[in-house]
Amino acid sequence: MRGLPLETEGANLGAMMSDEAARRKVFSPARLGGLELRNRIVKTATYEGMSPGGVPSDALICHHRDLAAGGVGMTTVAYCAVSPNGRTFEQQMYMREEILPKLRELTDAVHAEGAAASIQLGHCGYFSRNTELPRRCSLGPTFRLNEYGLMSGVPFARAMREADIAQVTEEFATAAAKAVLAGFDAVELHLGHGYLLSQFLCPATNHRRDAWGGSLDNRLRLPLAVLGRVRERVGSDFPILCKTNLRDGFRGGLELNESVEVARRLEAGGVDAIVLSGGFTSRTPFYLFRGASPLKEMIEVEHNPLQKLSLRLFGRRAIREYPFKEMFFLDEARVVRSAVKVPLVLLGGILSLDNLETAMREGFDFVAMGRALIADPDLINRMARGEVTRSRCISCNKCVAEMDRNGVRCVL
Ligand SMILES: Cc1cc2nc3c(=O)[nH]c(=O)nc-3n(C[C@H](O)[C@H](O)[C@H](O)COP(=O)(O)O)c2cc1C
Repeated sequence: MRGLPLETEGANLGAMMSDEAARRKVFSPARLGGLELRNRIVKTATYEGMSPGGVPSDALICHHRDLAAGGVGMTTVAYCAVSPNGRTFEQQMYMREEILPKLRELTDAVHAEGAAASIQLGHCGYFSRNTELPRRCSLGPTFRLNEYGLMSGVPFARAMREADIAQVTEEFATAAAKAVLAGFDAVELHLGHGYLLSQFLCPATNHRRDAWGGSLDNRLRLPLAVLGRVRERVGSDFPILCKTNLRDGFRGGLELNESVEVARRLEAGGVDAIVLSGGFTSRTPFYLFRGASPLKEMIEVEHNPLQKLSLRLFGRRAIREYPFKEMFFLDEARVVRSAVKVPLVLLGGILSLDNLETAMREGFDFVAMGRALIADPDLINRMARGEVTRSRCISCNKCVAEMDRNGVRCVL
């Protein structure tokens, strides 16, 4: 393989793997740091909307138990903030002592079904409409107008000071340590989708002139500090995943050449796996999912009257649609695959057994699925038994609105 351009090396190796071998690989146990998963399929984080008052409910436990019983190797509890001020909205779960017993119930239920449990830890940065924020001001790399919070009375984000940066770094580490106590088998640090760590990485939202902004080295400083501090707290064996962006999806955002470097630096920083995603919730929300934008349903479930009006008036223009394609991140993810050795998780429009096999042939270590498993929580077992070969998900994205109605679910 020496001498081949890096991009084609993985594809050539993959071509040598038979369908049968690729299928066996998907359903065979695999190591993730110090953990063994029963197969290579991860339920990716999809915000559940099942934590009223920020407290995990029985519905949340059932949701993850069903996914575990349905055959995934690992399920991921979504979008848990590392602190009250890291929440996008008031109902979001944030890591704290009081919720540990409920989280322990969740991890016990998942383990009883033979799967592992991970929890996604994040900080929203400026992207917040949380009216409980001190002085109703969110935090970001740089002072800015917060369009998302405007209608809820959180109009600005202030630039983080050194002390804020140190505090947030510590909050990630403390939240991860609590996740260990709650029985989670892994933590996923959210470095993508336009939340705080992604805002630091993104040239368009980080205009700092100090050590935390400017060059990629500087923009990476906070994500790497968080990874390092979390590692110190959870120990060398405990799996840490990072969810990163391949592209932010708008001009001036993070592009593939830099995201390859981000992956290299995370690898050097000791991450156990990288989940490759893309999109920036405040700018390109549907770049994350692709497919239809359920504007009508989003307007229906919006509680804030001003926000509702603004969605009615400007929603169509503000929320751009991206056509759905199976395995929509594969081309870009392949470039990262050729640049690093660290385990990679392929994500985005994975719907069928054929997609899972392709991911293995392309050299990815794991696959992550969101909507396909919202539609069919038992998809993996049914695929393994040869009963079905693809999910019934049609990428209508109505599940996205459902998370703000009564909890995420498939409407089909
Ligand atoms: C209803 C819904 C909620 C989501 N919430 C989150 C989230 O909390 N955190 C996150 O990183 N991604 C979130 N995503 C994005 C998914 O993790 C995933 O990146 C995206 O759906 C593409 O994967 P898929 O094609 O398998 O659905 C969400 C997606 C959906 C559909």
